[in-house]
Order: sequence, then structure tokens, then C-alpha cells
Amino acid sequence: MNKLAIMGAMEEEIEPLLEYFDDIKVTEYADNKYYEVNLDGLEVVIAYSKIGKVFASLTASTMIEKFGCDTLLFSGVAGAVNSELKIGDLVIADKLCQHDLDIVAFGHPYGYVPGGKVFVDTSKEIREVAKKVALENDIKVLEGTIATGDQFVNSVERKDFILDTFKADALEMEGASVAVICDALNVPCFILRAISDSADHSADFDFDEFLKSSAKISADYVIKIAKALQNK
Ligand code: ADE
Repeated sequence: MNKLAIMGAMEEEIEPLLEYFDDIKVTEYADNKYYEVNLDGLEVVIAYSKIGKVFASLTASTMIEKFGCDTLLFSGVAGAVNSELKIGDLVIADKLCQHDLDIVAFGHPYGYVPGGKVFVDTSKEIREVAKKVALENDIKVLEGTIATGDQFVNSVERKDFILDTFKADALEMEGASVAVICDALNVPCFILRAISDSADHSADFDFDEFLKSSAKISADYVIKIAKALQNK
């Protein structure tokens, strides 16, 4: 690993990351800001993309192609689909899908377009490091499927569709698009989320209430993972 990208979608998701660093170089590019820092000798680029798959794809591509990042970690919050998951719980994606990708009219499964695949895998190697870090620090994590779509889900009906169709554990609005970019560009990818809500009727209220605290839980863990990757 030469240069590490750590991205979030919202400013609140990277604020607790930036707090770790005193010396930050800010570069403006493509209508966004990129924060270059040094983590114990490792070059790291941090950015938040703005919400949704298009902005997330642009930021991931920029971090890889313009800034030369060769490993990417995503940190942020998600809605719970798996009923075992409570607010603040951590989820590591072993695979991700786009729940709103729909050409079912042509006989294809949900989440599939020709040339693509329904599920994109993340880096097994980084997941193993992350699980070791969790064990050593007494952090509880669930490894599972994350479903991504350009919609904030606050209905049990939509959530049940995502559970039934993709067997997802959590849902959010960027992860799968970042995983697709990394897969295409051969960059090891790791997607981490802490639960902020349960994607049901009270999701908007819970999201506002728990965005910051859950974003911090995710950020603190991702920094530990970055350090472990650096020392590998
Ligand atoms: N991120 C966090 N909670 C979410 C929700 N309910 N829907 C979409 N993205 C989310």
C-alpha cells in the first residue's frame, strides 16, 4: 500500500477522521475538497463525496486516478435491515448490491445490468485485518451484505423488499457504487458502516439524532484499521 483513501459521504462522516490530524493539506478538485494527511508515515487522502451513488463514484475515481490512492476505505452510517442490528452497531460489507438498479422489465434480476453483477465483493484481506483489529479492541462487528440505492429508506415496505430480494443486513446510499469503481480499477476496497437508524417510519428522526455519534464509532474503528494496514 502506497497511498490510502478514506472516504465518507457526508461532512459529519469525515469530521471525526480529520480530528486525528493537525497538518492537513486541502486541494480543491471537481467541485469537492480533498484532505491530504499523514498517518504515522502513511500518505492518506480523506474526502466526503456528497450523498448518493453518482457523487460517491466521482470521489472514489478521483481519489484513485488523480490522487493515486491504491487502497480505499469507506466510513459512515447506515440503516439497519437485519433486525439484530441496533443503533451504533458496526457492519463490514463482504459484498454490496444496488437495490434500485432495475431492468426487471427485460427479464433480468433486480440489481443486475449486462456486463455487471448483482453483488460486488470487497477485499477479503482488509476484512481479515479489520476483524483482527475488532477482536484485539473488543469491538463487535457484523460481516454481511450492504444494499445501496439513491433513496433514503424510511418505510418497512421498501426495507422488506431489500431484505427479501438481496438478503441485505444494512442499507445506505454510496457503498456499492464505490465497490464497483474499486472492482473495475483493481483497488482493494473496504466498506464500513455504523447503524444510525432502522430504515423504518422513524428513520429520518433517528438519523438526525444518531448521525454524529454513529459516524464517530465508524471513524474511530476505521483509523485503527488504517494503522493496522500500515503496520502489516
Ligand atoms: N443511511 C443511513 N440511514 C439510511 C437510510 N435509512 N436510508 C438510506 N441511507 C441511509
